[in-house]
Amino acid sequence: MTHRPEDIARAADIIRAGGLVAMPTETVYGLAADATNDAAVARIFDAKGRPTFNPLIVHVTGADMAKRYASFPPLAERLADAFWPGALTLVLPRRRDSALSLLVSAGLDTVALRSPNHALARQLLKAADRPLAAPSANRSGSISPTTADHVRQSLGDRVDFVLDGGPCPVGVESTIVKVDGARALLLRPGGVARAAIEDVIGANLENPPQAEKPQAPGMLASHYAPTVGVRLNAETAEDGEAFLGFGAVMDEAAAAARNLSQSGDISEAAANLFAMLRALDRECQERGLAAIAVAPVPADGLGEAINDRLKRAAAPRGRKV
Ligand code: TXA
Ligand code: MG
Repeated sequence: MTHRPEDIARAADIIRAGGLVAMPTETVYGLAADATNDAAVARIFDAKGRPTFNPLIVHVTGADMAKRYASFPPLAERLADAFWPGALTLVLPRRRDSALSLLVSAGLDTVALRSPNHALARQLLKAADRPLAAPSANRSGSISPTTADHVRQSLGDRVDFVLDGGPCPVGVESTIVKVDGARALLLRPGGVARAAIEDVIGANLENPPQAEKPQAPGMLASHYAPTVGVRLNAETAEDGEAFLGFGAVMDEAAAAARNLSQSGDISEAAANLFAMLRALDRECQERGLAAIAVAPVPADGLGEAINDRLKRAAAPRGRKV
């Protein structure tokens, strides 16, 4: 943690003036702007190179604040009670009298809301006294940032200020659940495991109909992509490949290698995923390697989110679903 106390006040001033601040959250770093300011929100899309049909998550201090912007059916109330602050984003009907910029919803009649569980994000929310629109703080389509250095490498001077909170503890983005009356649909697996949510709602999470899918950029086939290729379910590296291992499936002989978790701990693997993909991507470029071979990762717990991100990292580039 290299931030100084005065950094929060400075970051809050920048937000209130319509600027962009990269803030740490427990999942990944977010590129934050005042969600009530159209020009500030437009700058987020510009800085990320993000298509404007992709809506943004709005960060709030908790359910009380969220209710100013969205209607909260009882199911949403239960989920917020159980998981906020935390790595769960709720997509809810947008209130007509909401003060949020229309750009955060990208033309939809819903809004995505999350109360982050990270001291610096919470301090910034309080000091700025604004809802904060914040996508992951990387150029659109590339690997999400889990350190302040990743943000600087990806966005450079497109961001006005970076709050440095050290590495993000969870390491994959929030789970996104759309609450539609009494139904709960899983739009994106993430930092809260499916089973924990299903325990709270007492039912299975539903899959969204195909028609709802393209709304989410994380749902584009290719996303979270390193510059080199990615090959999944590998036991060893082939010639010209780096290796990303998990547990006992490891190839120390590869020209570049990392292990997501030597002990096979799935939460540790999630926390390491993006930083190790970045490091191997860089080493591949330096050593002229063409791809990263990745060991199988079990699908339980945060493994569902890890496998989702790996699948998109491996997808043919530029293809959309
Ligand atoms: O953990 C996270 O969720 C991080 C941190 C910074 O909070 N944020 C993040 O934002 O991952 P981003 O923009 O990279 O991903 C947000 C996802 C996108 O796939 C977007 O399409 C979806 O949320 N989304 C936002 N609003 C939506 C809405 N109204 N309906 C459906 N999907 C929505
Ligand atoms: Mg993202």
